[in-house]
Amino acid sequence: MKIISVIGAGQMGAGIAQVSAAAGYDVLLSDINIEQANLGKQGIEKQLSRLISKEKMDAKTADDILGRIQCIGDYAPLSNADLVIEAATEREEIKRNIFDAVGKVIGKDAILASNTSSIPITRMAQAAPDPSRFIGVHFFNPVPIMGLIEIIRGLATSDETVTAITDYGKKLGKKLVFANDAPGFIVNRVLMPMINEACFALGEGVANIQDIDTACQLGLNHPMGPLTLADFVGLDTCLEITKILFHSTGDSKFRPAPILQKYVEAGWLGRKTKRGFYDYSGEVPVPTR
Ligand code: 3HC
Repeated sequence: MKIISVIGAGQMGAGIAQVSAAAGYDVLLSDINIEQANLGKQGIEKQLSRLISKEKMDAKTADDILGRIQCIGDYAPLSNADLVIEAATEREEIKRNIFDAVGKVIGKDAILASNTSSIPITRMAQAAPDPSRFIGVHFFNPVPIMGLIEIIRGLATSDETVTAITDYGKKLGKKLVFANDAPGFIVNRVLMPMINEACFALGEGVANIQDIDTACQLGLNHPMGPLTLADFVGLDTCLEITKILFHSTGDSKFRPAPILQKYVEAGWLGRKTKRGFYDYSGEVPVPTR
């Protein structure tokens, strides 16, 4: 593999583009338009500048990484890609439309992968040109820092596709785990019920935002409390994954907490909208309750 295409230049897509370029791959980065793709690349530049200022990277290495990332405004250049990773919004319809469009231009040996956090791989493979070359490759936020990739094979995914993705993940220096195509795979199956339960605890008045977070952060030795983490991941993403867990299992233990739904309805989606459980408009995040 030499050329990787990343579709979606948000938090996850930009992170995937960054680590892929850092591992020596040429990267084609796209989004709904070239301006959005350029914004994603600017974010990567900022991350690399931070590393330079901390003397964790030299300027030449950062330039080389950026030089390997090309922003594109349409899918035509994807005909040269060996691997296409979709990292768009966590909505099945959006992802299917992308697979459909990409499927018309990619080469017959190219692999199509989705960074979905919870949508079934076997089902989405139906929208791919060849389900045997379709696979789940789930990164974690922030991608350059988090050491894990979950690899999820669908029913039709071939051994060759698994081997190729395994080689790619190893080249990025990540630890790989293999999950079956079950709702939420491994991490979100465990994480989202915790975040959802923290939302129930908040809604039921067990404690305020700060104390729920402090309790879990220090009491469980987690890097962030669950409500801070929810804001970090995006409350819309947390809700979407929780709904998928709930609807696909039918198990009431996964029912979304009302407060999580309300915040999403209000457009309070976490850090990305500058307000979620915390207000991010000032220097330091302030709890909103
Ligand atoms: N991008 C790149 N690097 C980042 C970053 C970002 N967004 N945020 C922080 N970092 C780097 C910092 O530069 C710093 O690097 P250094 O050690 O080389 O100086 C390092 O991470 C530590 O950062 P800070 O000192 O600023 O702050 P923290 O010690 O609080 O760490 C954190 C920040 C790494 C984000 C840490 O709080 C953490 O690990 N949080 C949990 C993250 C997590 O659970 N992610 C998974 C979410 S679930 C998911 O992604 C799945 C999806 O499907 C929902």
